[in-house]
Amino acid sequence: MKHEKNAPNSPAAPTLAQLAAGTPPPNAFDPVAEARGLETPDKDPDLCGPEGEVYAPDPLALAGARAHPLIAGTAVHLVTFGCQMNKYDSEMVAGLLNERGAGFVEDPAEAQLLIFNTCSVRGHAEDRVYGRLGALKARKRRDPGFLIAVMGCMAQKEGEHIAKRFPFVDLIVGTRQLHEFGQLLTRVREGAKTPLVAIEEKPDVQFGETVARRESKELAYLTVTRGCNKRCTYCVVPYTRGPEVSRPVAEILSEARRLVDDGVAEIMLLGQTIDTYGYDLGRDKANLPLLLKELHDVKGLERVRFITSHPEECQADLWRTMHDLGDKVMPFIHMPAQAGSDAVLRRMARGYTRARYLEVVAEARKLCPEIEIASDWIVGFSGESDADFAQSLSLLDEVRPQSSYVFKYSVREGTPAQRLPDDVPEDIKKERHRVLSERQEQIALEKNRERIGVVERVLVQGPSKTDPGRLTGRSRTHRLVHFAGGPEWAGRFADVKITGATALSLTGERA
Ligand code: SAH
Ligand code: SF4
Ligand code: F3S
Repeated sequence: MKHEKNAPNSPAAPTLAQLAAGTPPPNAFDPVAEARGLETPDKDPDLCGPEGEVYAPDPLALAGARAHPLIAGTAVHLVTFGCQMNKYDSEMVAGLLNERGAGFVEDPAEAQLLIFNTCSVRGHAEDRVYGRLGALKARKRRDPGFLIAVMGCMAQKEGEHIAKRFPFVDLIVGTRQLHEFGQLLTRVREGAKTPLVAIEEKPDVQFGETVARRESKELAYLTVTRGCNKRCTYCVVPYTRGPEVSRPVAEILSEARRLVDDGVAEIMLLGQTIDTYGYDLGRDKANLPLLLKELHDVKGLERVRFITSHPEECQADLWRTMHDLGDKVMPFIHMPAQAGSDAVLRRMARGYTRARYLEVVAEARKLCPEIEIASDWIVGFSGESDADFAQSLSLLDEVRPQSSYVFKYSVREGTPAQRLPDDVPEDIKKERHRVLSERQEQIALEKNRERIGVVERVLVQGPSKTDPGRLTGRSRTHRLVHFAGGPEWAGRFADVKITGATALSLTGERA
C-alpha cells in the first residue's frame, strides 16, 4: 500500500482521519532478507546488518495529544544503514514522528521527508550515503519543500562536513540528540536556517514513553546501553556514540512491558559490549544476569536474547543464568573474535589472547551446553601476515561458530589504527574475506545438518517472501527455519521437525 498520493507539503493535510483510512500495514519485515543481511558473510561485507529500506507504511499516525501541526500528514521515508542499534534508533525516531502525526511511505519518490540513519563503521558505509545525498540535489532544486535529514553515527562524526558539502540538506541530527528529532524538524518547518546541525555531545538519549514503530510485530530491539568504553584501535564507534551509558533496569522493564502489550514475543537487547551493562549504575544494582532474570519474569514475553558480547567481559555467572533461564533466554551469543593471531589482537587492543578466547568459549559451552556462538572477523588489518590470517582460520575451525560476519579492514579517521599502515593490499583482503567466509559457510552447513531429526521450537515470522505457501521463523538458537503452513501462524510458536539443511537455514515440517 502506498501513502496517499495527495499528501502535500502543507502540514495541514491530509488529516489524520484520511491517513487512518488507509489499509492496514502489511508486515514488511522480511526474515529471509534479514537472514541474508545478517547471516551471509559474503553478501555485502561492508554492511554489518541489513539495510532496512522500508517501514511498513502505517497510515495511522497516532492521533491525539502528541500530534503536531507542523509534522502531521508528512510522508516520511526512512533508510537505515549499519547495525541493530541504528535500527532501534530508526524505530524510535519513526515512532516519535508517528506520534506527531507523520505517515510512512515505501517509495522514496513519494516522500516529503527523506531520512538517512547512517553508519561510519567502514568507509563503504559512508560512501553509500554520500552517493545517495549527491543524487538528491536536483530533486531538492525542483521541490524546495522536500526535506532531507541525516541522522546517526555519520551525522555525529561528519555533521559539519556534510553541511558544507551538501548545503541543501535540511537537518543533521547526531546520535545523542535523536530524541529531539521532532522539535528540530519543527524548527526547520518554521524556517530555521538550514542545514540545522544538532550534534552536541549530550550524555544520554531519552525517548521517554515513545512507542517504537517496528518492522516486525513479534520481534523487537531494545537498547540497554549506549556508547562504548573500549578502544579497539580500528573502531570508530566510541567516537560516534560516546562513552557507555546504561539505562536503568526499571526503564528497560517498562519498555519491555510496553512491547509485550504491543504483541512482541521476542526481545533482542542491544549494547556494544552488553556484558558491561550496569557497570556505570553500580554492578550490584544492575548487571546483565540480573536484567535477564527480571525480563524472564515479564509476563507474556516469550524470548530474550542479547548482543554483542565482549570476550573479556563475559563472566561465568552469565552462562549459568542463560542455562537456568533457558526456557526464555535464547542460548545464542554474538561474541566477535575479530582475529586469531595474538599479535593482531594486540594491535587491535582487544584485551584478550587467542587462548583466552578459547577458554571463554569452553566455559560458555560447559555451563550452558546448548549455546551457539556467532562471531565477527576483520581480515587484512594492519600488519596481518599470511601466518596471522592462518591463525584466524584455525581459530574459526576450533570454535566452529554457527555464523560469522567477515569484514575487510577499513581505516577510520580519528581511530588509533589510522596511524598504523594499511599495508594489506585490497586483493589480498578480498581473498582472505572469501576464504574465511567460505570456511564459515561450510561449518554452518555441517552444524545445520546436525539438526536434522531434531524438533525445533520456532517463532513464526510469517510467510516466506519467495514462497508464500511456506512459513519462516527462528529457532531458539536463532536459526532460520522454513516449513509449510498458512499465514495464521505468523507471530505464533510452532514445533518443527527438521528434515533438511543448508548453510543458511533449516527446513522441516510441523511435529
Ligand atoms: N561492539 C561490537 C561491534 C561493533 S562494530 C563488538 O565489539 O564486537 C561491528 C563489527 O564491525 C565489529 O565487530 C568489527 O568486526 C567490524 N568493524 C569495526 N570497525 C571496523 C573497521 N574499521 N574495518 C572493518 N571492520 C570493522
Ligand atoms: Fe568498537 Fe571495540 Fe567498542 Fe566493539 S568493543 S564498539 S569493536 S571499540
Ligand atoms: Fe555503524 Fe554506528 Fe552501528 S558506526 S555499526 S551504526 S554504532
